[in-house]
Amino acid sequence: MEKLKIVGGRPLKGTIKVDGAKNSAVALVPATILAESPVTIEGLPDISDIHMLKGLLEEIGGEVTFKDGEMQVDPTNMIAMPLPNGRVKKLRASYYLMGAMLGKFKKAVIGLPGGCHLGPRPIDQHIKGFEALGAEVTNEQGAIYLRAKELRGARIYLDVVSVGATINIMLAAVKAKGRTVIENAAKEPEIIDVATLLNNMGAKIKGAGTDIIRIDGVEHLNGCRHTIIPDRIEAGTFMILAAAAGDGIVIDNVIPLHLESLTAKLREMNVPIEMADDKIFVGKADQLKAVDIKTLVYPGFPTDLQQPFTSLLTKAEGSAIVTDTIYSARFKHVDELRRMNANMKVEGRSAVINGPVQLQGAKVKASDLRAGAALVIAGLMAEGITEVTGLEHIDRGYSRLVEKLSDIGAELWREELSEEELEQIKS
Ligand code: EPU
Repeated sequence: MEKLKIVGGRPLKGTIKVDGAKNSAVALVPATILAESPVTIEGLPDISDIHMLKGLLEEIGGEVTFKDGEMQVDPTNMIAMPLPNGRVKKLRASYYLMGAMLGKFKKAVIGLPGGCHLGPRPIDQHIKGFEALGAEVTNEQGAIYLRAKELRGARIYLDVVSVGATINIMLAAVKAKGRTVIENAAKEPEIIDVATLLNNMGAKIKGAGTDIIRIDGVEHLNGCRHTIIPDRIEAGTFMILAAAAGDGIVIDNVIPLHLESLTAKLREMNVPIEMADDKIFVGKADQLKAVDIKTLVYPGFPTDLQQPFTSLLTKAEGSAIVTDTIYSARFKHVDELRRMNANMKVEGRSAVINGPVQLQGAKVKASDLRAGAALVIAGLMAEGITEVTGLEHIDRGYSRLVEKLSDIGAELWREELSEEELEQIKS
């Protein structure tokens, strides 16, 4: 097991490149199950969640190669192998195997998903959708059993706007008989990306990116080639990092439209920002001004950027309130930032941050993926050395982070934990 050591305060400057979108990738890869011939996806991030999904596709008989961001999946010999344990429990997005395998084989057994602990993360809306399409769904000893004689299109109203449920129902419905309508659907760009792949495979999906998605079922889906969209959350993390510790940074391979809520908030804080077609320049602010944020479904401020943003707010003048309306318990990073001298506390679903303070290097632990990003940003801002453990969370969502940050002038490296440190983590 390793830790990340960061020497804070180095001037960061230059260009940093964004990879393909994790939250798209984790759905695109399971979507390949639905095809009857090989599918190629370009631009995938080299993160542990994708390696995990590759292993799962292989477990069900897929032939998969993954090199330089390009994955080729030959689904010809896939079978409806039950996956109650093992890798499925290691990531959240394994729930997409439910929709994809149900859509293809009319049956699936998938263990309940893992992923970051952000408070309750039910999948009742996914199940409601599968049932509306005609599946019988049971939970037997921690695994979800799905069976259907046939899948029939249905009208499904989501009680909660959910990215996962919207995509999972699309996956299950593309080969169902007749028309499915998903109402109150999530509108995230990742949903459009998955619909684009499925349509290139021969599906008939209209309205992805709006709150009503119409799907006319087809009998066959074929292989195709697809290029993934850039990761707006990785890009947003770099924008925040640039505002917090940069001296002029260009973020390359972005769709600026996907980042409007963040851009607006950074500008409100006095951060100079310039946009080009697929690049964003983030300059250095004279004095950052505190702003409140409230996370909302897209196109609102993304919950996935809430934690990194709180690190930036420690440097801003005034008091800020950060409210997470999506995940009630996404504040485990707050205690760690306090170890680094941040003046902040959690009140209900909000964190209150008072600034500016100079963060100090400390030993901290990432409890989840975006908490990890928040701590790395804090480490870059801090005086002295910060040591971050819990790197397995960061590796789930950020590819080649040390290399990318070193290229813009950061001083950071990974180091094996000593026996003593390992003991401390276990206790
Ligand atoms: N919800 C329900 N019932 C459901 C599904 C969701 O009550 O059946 C609730 C959740 O508890 C939450 C809200 O609805 O309060 C939104 O959840 P959603 O289903 O949209 O989240 P998700 O699909 O499980 C994805 C991303 C998350 C991101 C959220 C919100 C993936 C694999 N994960 O999760 O990404 O935070 O959407 O945008 O796409 C991350 O990247 O760090 C991450 C956690």
